[in-house]
Order: sequence, then C-alpha cells, then structure tokens
Amino acid sequence: MLKRTHHCGQLRLEDDTQIVVLSGWVNSYRDHGNLVFIDLRDRNGLVQLVFDPEADAACHKMARNLRCEWVVAVKGVVRPRGEGLENPRLVTGQIEVLVTELEVLNTAKTPPFEIDAADQVNEELRLQYRYIDLRRRSMQEKLAVRHRVAKIVRDYYDDNGFWEIETPMLGKSTPEGARDFLVPSRLYQGQFYALPQSPQLFKQILMVSGTDRYFQIVRCFRDEDPRADRQAEFTQIDVEMSFVDEDDIMTMNEGVIRRIFKEVLDVDIPNPVIRMPYQQAIDEYGVDRPDMRFEMKLKDISDIAKESTFKVFTSTVEKGGIVKGLCAPGGAKYSRSDIEKKLTAFVGDYGAKGLAWMKVEKNEQGIVVPKSSIAKFFTDEQLAQLVERFGANEGDLMLFVADKAVVVNKALAPLRVRLSRELELFDQKDYKFVWVVDFPLFEWNEDAKRYDSLHHPFTCPVEEDMGKLETDPGNIRSQAYDLVVNGSEVGGGSVRIHNPQIQAKVFDLLNISKKQAEDRFGFFLKALGYGAPPHGGIAFGLDRLTMLLTGTENIRDVIAFPKTQRGQCLMTEAPSDVDQGQLDELNLRVQKHLHQVDGENV
Ligand code: AMO
Ligand code: AMP
Repeated sequence: MLKRTHHCGQLRLEDDTQIVVLSGWVNSYRDHGNLVFIDLRDRNGLVQLVFDPEADAACHKMARNLRCEWVVAVKGVVRPRGEGLENPRLVTGQIEVLVTELEVLNTAKTPPFEIDAADQVNEELRLQYRYIDLRRRSMQEKLAVRHRVAKIVRDYYDDNGFWEIETPMLGKSTPEGARDFLVPSRLYQGQFYALPQSPQLFKQILMVSGTDRYFQIVRCFRDEDPRADRQAEFTQIDVEMSFVDEDDIMTMNEGVIRRIFKEVLDVDIPNPVIRMPYQQAIDEYGVDRPDMRFEMKLKDISDIAKESTFKVFTSTVEKGGIVKGLCAPGGAKYSRSDIEKKLTAFVGDYGAKGLAWMKVEKNEQGIVVPKSSIAKFFTDEQLAQLVERFGANEGDLMLFVADKAVVVNKALAPLRVRLSRELELFDQKDYKFVWVVDFPLFEWNEDAKRYDSLHHPFTCPVEEDMGKLETDPGNIRSQAYDLVVNGSEVGGGSVRIHNPQIQAKVFDLLNISKKQAEDRFGFFLKALGYGAPPHGGIAFGLDRLTMLLTGTENIRDVIAFPKTQRGQCLMTEAPSDVDQGQLDELNLRVQKHLHQVDGENV
C-alpha cells in the first residue's frame, strides 16, 4: 500500500512540485474525457486530484472507473491550478495534485445519501448510516471539539491537583431523581445492578477516603425521555473537592470553562462569572436558567393591574395570583392575529389562559401610548405607568399573563426566548455566563404532599438556615449552584452534607423512611460516620458544553453514536430481543404485553 505522506487539507501553494502520497475517500468525481477530476477527502479536508493520460495513461484509465466513496491512495505531484481555476472556498483551492500512481484500497456501495447534501436528509437515515454521516466535515469538526474539550478538562484538573478516578458502572440505584436502567445479575438471580445516574455517592465516599480532589469524564444513565438537549446516556465532567466552601468550588470550576472557551473559541469569559440568586432569576426571567444575551426582563405589574377595570387582571390578583409581563423591543410589528393566535397558543401550551397585549405607539402629540383592545380598561395614568415600568418605546409590544405565579413564569420564560429569536435580539456568537445560586433546598410536591429536593438529597442548607430544618423547611436556601450559559444549564453542584444526623434529617423531610434510607443509602450514611471532611462539587454536561461550542441545538450532533427521541440506536438496532439461552441463564422470563403503536397491536 502506498504510504501516506500528507493529509488532504494540508497542501498549499508552497508545496508546489512536491511529490506526495494521499489516502482517502472519493468525495466527487468529474470526467471531462481527456481529464478526470476527483475531490479526495480525509478527516482533514479536501484536495483536487487530476488524472491526465499524458501524465500516466494507465492511471487515467483506472480513474475513470472510480466512484463516490471508494477508498484510494494516490501518488502525485503538487502543482498550481490553472489561471482562473482556483477555488476560493477550499483552503487547498489554489493547488491540485497530478496523479501518477493510483491504488484502489476498497470499493463502496452507492451511499444512501450524498455526503455534501446530508443536511437536507432526514435524521433517521443519517443515524442508520452513522458512519457515512460522520464523514461530513461539520460532524468531524464536532468530534474534534469534543476531543479538545476532554483534553483541556484533563489538563486543567491535573494542573490543579485533581486525580481522575473511575467509579463503577454496575452499582446500586443513585438518587438523581430519574428512572434507573437495570442490569440483571446472573450470579444473584432476581437481583439487579443499576447503571449510575451520576457518580454522586462514590465521589462523596472518595472524599471520605481522603482523595481530596477527584474528577472523572463519566457516562451517566437516566431512563427519561430524550429531548433536544437530553439523552438517556450522556457524559458528565464530574468533580468533587474537600475542605472547600461554595465560593472555592465555583471559582475553581469556572476556571475550566474559562480555559475551554478561550482555547476552543478564543472567547474571554468575565472573571469572576456573575452570580444571581435563584429568586432574582425567577422574578426577572421566569426560570432558573436565564438567557442573559438580551434584556427583556419580566416585570410584575400586579399593583397597576389590580387598579384597572380589566376583570381578568383584577380577579386574578384578588385570588392571590399575579400579573406579569414583558416588553418586546420592536414587537409591534407582530400582527394582531399573530399575537392572538400564534403567541397566545404558544403560551397556552405552557398553561397560560390567555395573553393580553398592548402595542406601543405615538399619538398626535408625540406621546408614547399603548394601543390595545384592553387599553379601555386602564386610565391614561395607568397606561403611562405601564410604559414607564417597562421603559417601553414606540414600536414595542407589551405582553401580559395573569395567573398563579408558577403558571405566569412557566409561560413567560419560553415566550421571552421565542421573541428574542424572532426579533433577533442577540448575536449568535455571544456567550453570557451566570451562576445561579441560593436555590431553595426543597420544593413542595403538591401531588405527593411532600418535599422534593431541588438539587439532590445530599445538598447542604446554607449555614444560617440550618435551624429551619425543624421549623420551616420550605424556606431553607441551599448551598447549590448552576452554571448557565445562554439559557442552557451546563453544570450544577453543591456543598454536601457531611454530618450523618443532618443527612438523616433531610431524608426524613423527603419522606424517605428510616428503613428505605437504610436500604438505599445505608452504606453511605455509614461512611459519613467515619470522618467525612467538609466537601462539595459539581458536574458539567460535556454534551451540552460541546453543543454550545459547536453552535448546534441538537444533542445528537455532538455524540458519535446517539439514540433517537425514542431511545433507539438506529445503526445497531438496540434495544433488541435476546436469545432464550441468555434469558435462561439469568433466570428471567419476559412477559410481552400487547401495546399499541400508531393504532396497531404489536
Ligand atoms: P445534574 O443532574 O444537575 O447534577 O447534572 C449535571 C449536568 O449534567 C448535564 N445533564 C445532562 N446532559 C444531557 N442529557 C441528560 N439527560 C442530562 N442530565 C444532566 C447537565 C447538568 O447540568 N450529581 C450531580 C452533580 C453534583 O451535585 O455534583 C448531578 O448529576 O448539563
Ligand atoms: P377575553 O376577555 O377572555 O376575551 O380576553 C381578552 C384578552 O385578554 C385576550 O387577548 C386574552 O388573550 C387575554 N387574556 C385572557 N385571559 C388572560 C390571562 N389569564 N392572562 C393574560 N391575558 C389574558
């Protein structure tokens, strides 16, 4: 086999007259009779090959039989392209390689889609033929960025005295709040391992073990329905540290993100990253992961609304609800029907019962006034107050939702994001970082009539709220923090409880009985009793980080072999039936329930 001397994307005018050997795939093929042109592709790029019978007749003849995606090696000489034949879209566009030796390393079937047109192909086909999909330059670039991030992560934590330690994949159920993937045990029939939802308990036990600083790039498994930014199997950059407080952990760990953004994108992240209390995030953005690339903050207008004569507003406030809104700059260009149909249906999907609107216009006197079918329910003074509250200008659109606070926030937060996109309120290349801090420790679960952990049950309350464990659990703040970038939660962590009595108390408040706590976490509570240091940590989502760095909104684009929304690997066809023999060995019997898919029994 010809031995490769260069990569395809590497050659430039300076290489003129060099003899080179290249290997790769036939990307495209043009036969001009006397000359055959091939674009040869490898991981590194494209280069044009020329086969000329005058240079080598046998080679030219062979070249006429080549087809797309065949694998070849060629030897030839680099030369400048002819006058006017340069291709400015290729980095190698000023040269070509005149081939004198051709070796066909493999033929290929006609691919199910053209590599260069893969963007227009349905994703299922791409996932089925993932090896072809991954040949695309844009996909190779994403794999490269992911590799680069992993490398920076290892270097950064190593520089700071962290050890990379592996924790088991076959373990016991861990409590990140999702469903477990279970693996049946052959030796202990009827018993199961659980795949880790995260290494949470192991990393805490590593701190009890005196490891001091741990990290791991680790696969986590959560049996939830995948979404655009969620997979059942995903990767965390998982970190834990001893003898540290909240501030130490945030400072150390924003450092790795700073290094990644600098090295991959040459973007400087402010130092330190700003911190925002959870309550402020909810008040101003309606969510705990605010997109800070644009303003458009939510404002509570209940005080003005309750003085109006608009029944929807007054009755909501009377019942203890709120009226909140936002002001979309330039939003007055939405037509009345777009607002009353599309935008109202959009917030309706999030539970809002309606969407009140006012377009901000100038009257004959040049004064800014809201125009709306509900303006008649407000005095001129009240309208002026609304304009002032939002700092509204001519051409803006004010939108309001009245309901219980949770419903209002749930509806306005995604509306704010939608409007920012449609009105192009931010620069695609902008990155805005924020730590959201002071999360509540618990949230009340109305259906189950008990508290749930907002982060997880190992999170430590803030020192001064510790007394409320007995008296007022709903108002305890926790030492938990999330790192949010452009509205995406890329990481989250907390200072942990290291006192077994406090840990037991928290289990109690979560309605986890002593027996359940013992069965599930007994080993962990026991470990805490043997000299646990104060400790805490964080986990970043490697997939989500890579999405941000590569500018994709589809998590499957940054995972080499992802699963579909329905949890399948279309290439290998997992999950699949297994042999009866395998089931017998595990002493498992599968009971197939008839269920309906698209109206048919399967
Ligand atoms: P948490 O559950 O917040 O914390 O997860 C940490 C980060 O992992 C990413 N992530 C996901 N990415 C893709 N698909 C998913 N299904 C998915 N779930 C989570 C997110 C998230 O911010 N043990 C704690 C961390 C700690 O306390 O140290 C934990 O797992 O980017
Ligand atoms: P109605 O009086 O129901 O016809 O509503 C008049 C306007 O108020 C419409 O634009 C509705 O979308 C809006 N509206 C109705 N209910 C609410 C609500 N809960 N919050 C905000 N606007 C609402």
